[in-house]
Formats: sequence, C-alpha cells, structure tokens
Amino acid sequence: METFKTLTKAAIPLCEPNLRGNEKQYIVDAIDSNWLSGGAYLNQFEKKLAAFTGASYVIGTSSGTTALHISLILAGVEPNDLVILPNLTFVATANAVKYVQADPILMDIDSKTWVMDVNLLAEFLAEQTYVKNETCYYKKNNRRIKAIIPVHLLGNMCDMQQLHRLAIQYGLTIVEDAACSLGSFQKEKHSGTFGLTGTLSFNSNKIITTGGGGAILTNDESVAKKAKHLITQAKSSATDYFHDTLGYNYRLVNPLAAIGTAQMELLPQFLQIKQQITDNYKRALEGLPVQFQEITLGTVSNAWHCALLTRKRSDLISFLASENIESRPLWIPINELPIFKNDAYINRNNNAKKVSESGIMLPCSTSATNEQIERVCESVIAFLTK
Ligand SMILES: Cc1ncc(COP(=O)(O)O)c(C=O)c1O
Repeated sequence: METFKTLTKAAIPLCEPNLRGNEKQYIVDAIDSNWLSGGAYLNQFEKKLAAFTGASYVIGTSSGTTALHISLILAGVEPNDLVILPNLTFVATANAVKYVQADPILMDIDSKTWVMDVNLLAEFLAEQTYVKNETCYYKKNNRRIKAIIPVHLLGNMCDMQQLHRLAIQYGLTIVEDAACSLGSFQKEKHSGTFGLTGTLSFNSNKIITTGGGGAILTNDESVAKKAKHLITQAKSSATDYFHDTLGYNYRLVNPLAAIGTAQMELLPQFLQIKQQITDNYKRALEGLPVQFQEITLGTVSNAWHCALLTRKRSDLISFLASENIESRPLWIPINELPIFKNDAYINRNNNAKKVSESGIMLPCSTSATNEQIERVCESVIAFLTK
C-alpha cells in the first residue's frame, strides 16, 4: 500500500527551466530573420544584460565555462601561473584554470556563508606569498600568482570590498565567477562587475536560461574588444581569413540569445519567486537541526538555489527520492577530484568538505507551486523528526 501511495505522487523536479514568456515567439522571429550566428537578438540580449547589471560591456558566449576560459586569458594568466579559487565550486571554475595551463590554489570556504574565506585568504597572502615588482609569488615554489576567482556560490557573494583591497595590495587580477548570481548585488553593485571581468552562465538550471550559454561582463572597453575578438576566432577583418592570434569559436548564437531576451523580461519575477521559495523553506524548517546559507553582510542574493546542511544528507536524498522529490548533494570539493589532487589546498577547518558532505540542494524551480514546496517541507520534516 505504501509503495502504491509513493508511486502515485507527482514528481517534483529540482530546478526546471521556465519558458513561459516570449521565448517561442522570439526564437521563431530569429529563425525567420535568417540570422543564426550573430543578429539582432544577440545585440538585444547583451544590451539587456548590460542595463540590468550595470556592466559597461557584455559579450555573449557559448557557455559560462568558455566565458571563464577567455577571462583568464584576458587576465594575462600564462602557463605555470597559479590562480586562487574556492575549494567548493562547480568543476568548471577549476577546469578553466587548467585550460590555460595554470594550476589552482584552492582556498577553504567560510562555514556559514559557504563562499571563499576572505580572512583565510588574507592570512595566506600575508604569510605564504611575497611581492616582487608588483607581482605576487607563492613562497613554496616561487610560482607567480596571477589571478583570483571569487565564486558567488548559489547566489551569495564574498566580501568584495575586502577581496578588492587584497587584490590591489598583492597585484592579483579578479575574475568573478558569477555563473549562479545573475540578480545578486553587494552594496548596490551587481555581481560580476567588481573584477576585470565577471562571467555568467545560462545553463538550463540557472535563474535564466538559453539552454546553453554565458556572458562576459566588463567595464573596460579594450578588454571587451579583446573578448569579442578571441571568441570569434581572432579574425582580423570580417572578410579575410587572417587570424592574428590563437582564437576560439565561443560565440552565443542568435536563436539562443532570442530565448535569453525573453528570459530577461521574466528575470524580475523569477528573483521574487526564488526569494519566496527560500523564505518558505526557512520558515517551515525552523527549529529543525538544519543549517541554511548565511548571506554576506551588504549582499542581496538572487536566492538562486536553496540548499541546507544536515547530518543525514544521503538518507534524506534517498527518502525524498522515494517520495518522488528530486534533490542533489552539493558539489564534491575540488581537491578531492583526481585532476586537482596535487594542487595546493589552503585549509582552515576543511569547511569545504563539511559543507559538501552535509549539503543538499532542494527543489526550487520558478514554476514550482506553493503546494509542491509545502510537500517538500512536509517530507523533510517527516524524515528529520521520525
Ligand atoms: C559556479 C559555476 N561556474 C561555472 C559554471 C559553468 O557554466 P556553464 O555550464 O554555462 O559552462 C557553472 C554552471 O554550470 C557554475 O555553477
């Protein structure tokens, strides 16, 4: 009987795309225009992103990962350099460092906000690096530390003022991984606009989606020009096949930008819904032995993905699955993945591992009904109080 009841429960997905606006109309329009690579929607989408984020320049890319790759080239990262990033992030952040033949220095995260521990970073830079000719070197191996990638995890941001101060003091270039944080602000400045560049992702689980896609944000005109050049095969002129450096085919195409343009019209609504979902979870699960992400002072998170920490993480995921509710663990720390196991890990209390091991991501589609979120809460409560 129990099995029958479980099987009849409707599925609640983790984080579905929501294409309820003008997506279909704009994509048909893009096809009718016969402009598939570049085109009017790409320009419109970039303009809308610039207006929303306050970035002076926005360049659409094929993904958040390719936006990161190009950003590290623009930051001047060269083979054998080191790049600092948090130990808890999606693998793409660390992979991009390897693409430019550099290696990461993995920084532990803060146990409450789950983003890079900026105090640990300050201690590391003071004790384990030295600066010569305005360039920072790692004492352990005398390798240059060229850049730093703060990752705005699940929409939260680390203290960008402190990070910026450290970056200036130690000559580090900031590339912000803002893949998850479209709509997050700190002191009224949008995520991704603090560094030389910031990168966005429009992967299908993100707050807005184009199926696959990304963007580079920058306030520097010459950086924007170089970015556009590099993602279009470093072609010197529109007609001749002269390529002046190693280029890439990393452009966002016009029909996908058409979806993005429609999604941007929905973004203000999506931000409200995401915040509502997080608030509902927090209210319903208050008093249980769970921990939510604390938002850094002065930050307004886009509340992209609600997650919580619980000692019974794996069993809770299985229980929710038996109730036809999709949930996922948080990412495995980067230092535990085979290709990064020999990279430096600056460890405070192994917070990255603790958060990873107990972290569970809960359903938070913008199309989720209140009843669905209530059902998730009831299931979590039933499991944690039995
Ligand atoms: C933190 C982070 N960085 C980078 C990426 C890569 O973006 P994409 O999947 O668009 O390549 C993602 C997500 O997918 C991400 O969550």
